[in-house]
Amino acid sequence: MEYKNILFESKNKIAYITINRPKQLNALNSETIIELSKAISLAEEDKSIRCIIITGAENKAFVAGADIKEFVNYSKKEGQELARKGQETLFDLLENCGTPSIAAINGFALGGGLELAMACHIRIASENAKMGLPEVSLGVIPGYGGTQRLANLVGKGKAIEMIITAGMISSEDAKNWGLVNHFCLQTELLPLAEKIASKIIQNSPIAIAKAIKVVNAGVKDSLKGFELEKKEFGNCFESEEFIEGTNAFLEKRKANF
Ligand code: CAA
Repeated sequence: MEYKNILFESKNKIAYITINRPKQLNALNSETIIELSKAISLAEEDKSIRCIIITGAENKAFVAGADIKEFVNYSKKEGQELARKGQETLFDLLENCGTPSIAAINGFALGGGLELAMACHIRIASENAKMGLPEVSLGVIPGYGGTQRLANLVGKGKAIEMIITAGMISSEDAKNWGLVNHFCLQTELLPLAEKIASKIIQNSPIAIAKAIKVVNAGVKDSLKGFELEKKEFGNCFESEEFIEGTNAFLEKRKANF
């Protein structure tokens, strides 16, 4: 598959997706959103890929937001369509993808960029990263799921503060607020993402996909989450990976998934 706006590489069971528009600080235009969506779908279909790492090209930005130049003249209808299409094509797809994703935030993650990171399952950031949802400074609100996912991650109070001040927070604050799981030197960002990925890869991909599905269901509706957990817990007993995982434990060896 040929891409214009992203780089895609896979090695050692990890897919590396790099948003590659550094002159625009990796801003997400609609073409980039479609390419990202295709890359994530292909990675999910490819059973040799067990984890996805998403990052931005060069050292300045992860993604500086949706491409403002693209929507500056949009009507109300076009604006609604931009948000709907973006959420359905990419952000919901990424959040519900059974192959886990790690956002390696290497610089500015603003607006749609932070929304992209928040749709990933794990976020880590480099020390120079700056994160925020500055949309209200442009007279608009986050449209790629940011109002909902930020409140889920950091709580309503901090989310509203971040959104209505349009401010940026440091990696250290993001870690303290629960927005990112870890932060580190920029040179250590990809090695840290790979270290986390290497732990994920050792585990049952079927069980991982089910765990993601159940956690996501519970965030939307906690009662449904508990119900789905019971059902999917039982479903695991039918998988060969369950037989391999439990037998490996009893035989005092490492499971081979
Ligand atoms: N869209 C389009 N182009 C962008 C962009 C964006 N979101 N962010 C940066 N760029 C472009 C700039 O226009 C500039 O291009 P030119 O050289 O052609 O002028 C280039 O990237 C470099 O940017 P700056 O010169 O601004 O770099 P800086 O170091 O002075 O500032 C910055 C960096 C603080 C990140 C600043 O670029 C900035 O504030 N960017 C916009 C951030 C933003 O508002 N994001 C939210 C977008 S709206 C959104 O995402 C909606 C949604 O939820 C769906």
